[in-house]
Amino acid sequence: MRRTLIAGNWKMNGSLAANAALLAGIQSGLDQPSCDIAVCAPAPYLAQCQAALSGGLVAWGAQDLSVHESGAYTGEISAAMLRDVGCRYVIVGHSERRAYHGESNELVAQKTLRAIKAGLTPIVCVGETLAERESGQTGQVVGQQMDAVLATIAAADLSNIVVAYEPVWAIGTGKTATPQMAQEVHSLLRKKLAEKDVAAAANVQILYGGSMKPDNAKELLAMPDIDGGLIGGAALKATDFLAIIRAA
Ligand code: 13P
Repeated sequence: MRRTLIAGNWKMNGSLAANAALLAGIQSGLDQPSCDIAVCAPAPYLAQCQAALSGGLVAWGAQDLSVHESGAYTGEISAAMLRDVGCRYVIVGHSERRAYHGESNELVAQKTLRAIKAGLTPIVCVGETLAERESGQTGQVVGQQMDAVLATIAAADLSNIVVAYEPVWAIGTGKTATPQMAQEVHSLLRKKLAEKDVAAAANVQILYGGSMKPDNAKELLAMPDIDGGLIGGAALKATDFLAIIRAA
């Protein structure tokens, strides 16, 4: 049985003071949650997350990692460094990185492998743009994004990844995929995973991301292949994040 994962992606938001208040608010509002919970913070605040969250119910993670192991890569952050500050998760291939930093399917696949090798759980993001959806290419686009990762990792590694379906047109727009639209893609992704390993595919958590809020979380999370959420805006308010956790 798959556990639900509710993960916050703070993106480039926060400050020491704001994060302290947010983390305290989340932790104090948790009432025996039955789901996994994580926050993915900007790199400078990961040590703050480690100090605030160690030993508790909320895991923390990063939003990107270097494809390289170590060395002369100015500005890059390695998987080992993320482990060093206690990260469990790292988001890989978010559409904002694909769009603004030119991350290819191949780079995303290599980063996924790098994360797995370091003992991190990559949250691998896939998703189509509005133009791709409107021209009927959704299945092909997310299929290719998923295939690149599956061609790079071993079948045994399927138990160490999380997948997030994030339709680009739903991110930060207030437009959410309907539960049926999301379920259709999640089911397709699970079939892809099953081509690699049927048993492992049944256990991979596939999250939905894109304007998930307290008022739509329940119906999305009720779908058979939606195993959680990757939450942007609503993860920045403790009350909203807690409401989504409760919906799960
Ligand atoms: P929003 O929830 O703000 O739409 O962001 C979703 C997202 O990109 C999470 O990674």
